[in-house]
This record gives sequence, structure tokens and C-alpha cells, in this order.
Amino acid sequence: MRILIDTDILVPGHDGTPLAANVWRPDVPEPAPVLLARSPYGKDDLNVLVDDISANVHALVEAGYAVVYQSCRGTFRSEGTFTPHVDEAADGAAAVAWLREQPWCNGTVGMLGTSYVGLTQWYAAATGVEGLAAIAPLTAPADPYLAPWYSPGGALSLDSLLTWTTLMSTNAVMRDLTLGKGDPAEIGTAVAHVTTLPEAFASTPLHDHAWVRSRMPALADILAHPTRDRFWTDLAPLATPERISVPALNVGGWYDLFLPSTLQAYRTMRERGGSAEARAGQRLVIGPWAHMGEHRSGTFPDRDHGPMAAFQFAEITEGHVAFFDRWLRGRADAVDDDHPVRIFVMGIDEWRDEADWPLPDTRYTDYHLSSTAGAHTAAGDGLLSVAPPAVEGHDTYLYDPHRPVPSLGGPVLGLATGTHAGPLDQRPVESRDDVLCFTTPELTAPVEVTGHVAVKLFVSSSAVDTDFTGKLVDVHPDGRAVLLCEGILRARYRRSLAEPEPLTPGEVTELTVDLGATSNVFLPGHRIRLEVSSSNFPRYDRNSNTGGVIAEERLADMVPAVNAVHHGPAHPSRLVLPLIER
Ligand code: BEZ
Repeated sequence: MRILIDTDILVPGHDGTPLAANVWRPDVPEPAPVLLARSPYGKDDLNVLVDDISANVHALVEAGYAVVYQSCRGTFRSEGTFTPHVDEAADGAAAVAWLREQPWCNGTVGMLGTSYVGLTQWYAAATGVEGLAAIAPLTAPADPYLAPWYSPGGALSLDSLLTWTTLMSTNAVMRDLTLGKGDPAEIGTAVAHVTTLPEAFASTPLHDHAWVRSRMPALADILAHPTRDRFWTDLAPLATPERISVPALNVGGWYDLFLPSTLQAYRTMRERGGSAEARAGQRLVIGPWAHMGEHRSGTFPDRDHGPMAAFQFAEITEGHVAFFDRWLRGRADAVDDDHPVRIFVMGIDEWRDEADWPLPDTRYTDYHLSSTAGAHTAAGDGLLSVAPPAVEGHDTYLYDPHRPVPSLGGPVLGLATGTHAGPLDQRPVESRDDVLCFTTPELTAPVEVTGHVAVKLFVSSSAVDTDFTGKLVDVHPDGRAVLLCEGILRARYRRSLAEPEPLTPGEVTELTVDLGATSNVFLPGHRIRLEVSSSNFPRYDRNSNTGGVIAEERLADMVPAVNAVHHGPAHPSRLVLPLIER
């Protein structure tokens, strides 16, 4: 098929500001349905032409769709000022309205794209703009407090915040120079900031990144709102799902920092979406991927999930065509309505179709924590068992913000943390005396864990606030301790993200650490392990243990905390695993 390509088309934003777009469309006489992507990373990004991070544009056009990539306001050739989040709803609605007036558009529009390009879809959908019929957010936020800026337990996602604002500041410098503005010497400043990101994570106070703040003032706004207040709920399309009446193809990765958003979007829209189509039409695909394109092969340094795990082989482009055929062209048989969920089950390394998420036959099962001599390090005697322990015990450790536990894989961006994202071997951190390890005996039969994982801990601390982290780990027979999912709770948010409450030092408190979600079959000969500690840095900022405003504190203000995990009949600390037994 001949493809017609128009570049640098100017599409008016909500206030008439010209926003640049590229159009690919089939050379056919009749108008086509249109797929729109709105990106702050440049409409000319050639990644959109291959399918290792998103659906392949050429294949979509071959399937009869016109595809439009637009640069967000204030980025690349689009005029105006880029202020993350704020204009995306209105500019998205304006773009959809404009597209519907073009002679080559048949009046029906879908949206697609990855990450921030997914968030722009949720914003447009929440306006209820006429003509928008379906969206396909990939590895994307729908509630920016949960990801990428903070996290479900209230700790700041330092890695993603500082990496992204620094890279976007660099883009802003380049944009000014191409427009004949700015000082070429600032390129040197920008490069220096990018190359010294690991040092920037460690520098305090966190709000003191003057150059990044000058280029990306959103950094200061985000740091000024550590609790989930009105600032965040107003920016969260998913806070009011009733306003969203379109089906969504939600695609995510087990090691993607946006996984909580992807799963929450599917579930929330299914329960509370604004139309019967939106509720019934949600779909979910989760692969063994981390966020960045190069982490979507399914192959990681310490774990290879096999060739079928790669994003390119996950039928993502075909899945988009089928989904949009269903909702933009009314082809009722294009998708399997009985199996809206497709997940990659790690361990057995197979794709599986499911009826819903969480899986309807999930049996949540408690695995109790206990130890005798001590659970410190993987060499300790911390035990994870279905049978509850008969005697009381506790494990005490020193959490010192001056020597936080370094992030090792997991849902990091993996651009500047000095660690690859994904299922890395945790043995280097499991040898630290501030990391507690609770492990089952070797399994004699497979155990499938698919769903949301949480750990309920009875804790005490010498501090008025501190963090508790947890990691679920698959210990392989060769000793590799492969990370599956992880989470953190900032204790002040143990009851509410909106209303922080200090701890009473020395008092035992029950709290829940959300460890995210996974799908993994622990094979015979493997062991299930839970790690508990109080930091995971720089994936998250470190808690100063003072109860103060962490972004304003210097390293010298931070104090160590003596933290303890209690276990036994009176303090049943336990890992809650979603077991699937078929
Ligand atoms: C992204 O669009 O990939 C992204 C956005 C914010 C933080 C991290 C990543």
C-alpha cells in the first residue's frame, strides 16, 4: 500500500497555539479512522516506526488507519510552554476535535503510545471529547502520584523524577537553540547534569537542583507535594473514572515502574468506568518487561525468559489492530471478549489468557515470618512458612540513611542508577546486615504466585517516621536470588497517603507494605524469599527518620533508626501471596 506522509502539520491547541504533528495515512479515496499519539519526546522519534517499544506505525497504516504523532505543547516544534500534565487534557481534546474535521478522517479517533504518551491519552479521555472511541496506553501512568513521581506507599520515586526532569531540561535547551534562543554553553551544563545523575541522586537537600528547576519548574512543584493532596487528585484522570467512557488496551511490564498504574487502570475502569463499553472493553497485557525499550526483550543479565517474552513477539501491533478494529470499526469478533487479560507467567515462561485481573480463582495465603538466631542476611535463619510460629521473636536492624541499601534491578528506569532494571540477582544486597531475609525450605512442588503481593508487618522503630521495604525473590537452585516484585511504605502514610501520622517511637504497629504484582511459578527445588529492610536508593528517596520534610533536609540532618520486625502468635507478621492452584 502507498502511504502518504505529511510532516509539520500545525494543529491548534486548546487556545489556538500551533502544535506540530506528522501524519501517515493510507493512499485510499475514503476517509479512515485515525490513531493519535501526543508525545513530549518529539513526533519525529523513529522508534515509532519499529515495534520494540510501541505499535508499529507502518503496520497500523497497512491495516487502514491514519496515524498522527503530535508534539506536546512547548516541546520540539510545537509552540507554547511545556508544563507537565496541565495542558494535556485540553490540548488532547482540541487535537481530536481538529482531526475529526479533516477530510481524510472518518470521524472516529483512537489514541495510542507509551509512557507519558499513555498519560496524555487518559487526560484526553477524561474530557469526554466526542469522537474519541478507544485508547491504548502502554507502560503508562494514569495517576501520576502513584507513578512516576511518588509510589503507592508514599516514598518519592527519586530515580524517575530526577532522571526525567534532567533529560527534559536537556531537551528544553536543545529546543531553544534550534529556535535561535538560549546560550550554546548551556549544552555543556545539560550534559554535565545528565552524566552526573548518580551524584545528583545523592545530593541533598533534594529540592536544591537549581538548574533542573530553572528548566523544569515542575520538579519544585512535585517535591512541594509529598502527600497525596488536591494537587495530585486534580491531576489524576483515574481519580474520577466515571468521566472516562472509552475502552482501553492497557499494556504493562512486571518490572515497569508504571505497573501499579496499569493494573489499577484496568481494575478501576472495569468497575467504575463511565460507560458499559468502557467497563466491558478494558483489556490488559503484561509481559516480563521493564520500562525502557532496551529492557523489553525479556532477556536480563540474571534471567532470560526465552524468545517468546520479547515485546516484538508479543503481538503488540496485532493486538492494537484487533482492539481498534473492535472499537473504531465495530468488528465485534476482532477480540476475544471472554479473555480480556493476557499475562506472561514467569518461571514456566509462557503466555496465558485469563478471564480477569486479579485472577478470579486467586487464593490469598499467609506465609508467616519467624527466626530464631536472626533473619539478617540470606545466611540467617529467617523462615517463611504457612504454619504460624509458636513463639514470639523479633529481628532488629539499624537503618542508617547515610548508607542506604542500593537499588539493584526492579522497576528502576535503569538510565542513570548504575543498575539494569528488572529481575537482577539480589545476593549483593542480601549480604547486608540491614536486610532481613525470610525463606521457605526448598519446594517439592510448583507454587504459582499470580496477582498482588503484600506483606503485613508488626514493626517498631526508634524514630517518628521511617520506611519499610519488601522484595519478593525467587531463589534458584544455583543460588541466584531473582527479584520478582518490590515495594516500600513510608510509615507516616501507613493509614492514609493524604493524612500523614507519626509513629510513636518504641511502640509496635501493624502496617502493610504493597509489593506490587507479579506472575511467577516457583519451580520444585526453588525457594520463596521475602526481604525486608528500610531503603532502596535511589529507586526511592531515603527517609531521614526525623519526620520532617525530607526534600528540604540535608544528609547531616538525617538520623539512623533502630527498626524491628516482630513475629509470633501476638504479632503475626506475614507475606500474603496470591496463589493459583489449577
Ligand atoms: C516516560 O515517559 O517514559 C517517563 C515519564 C516520566 C518519568 C519516567 C518516564
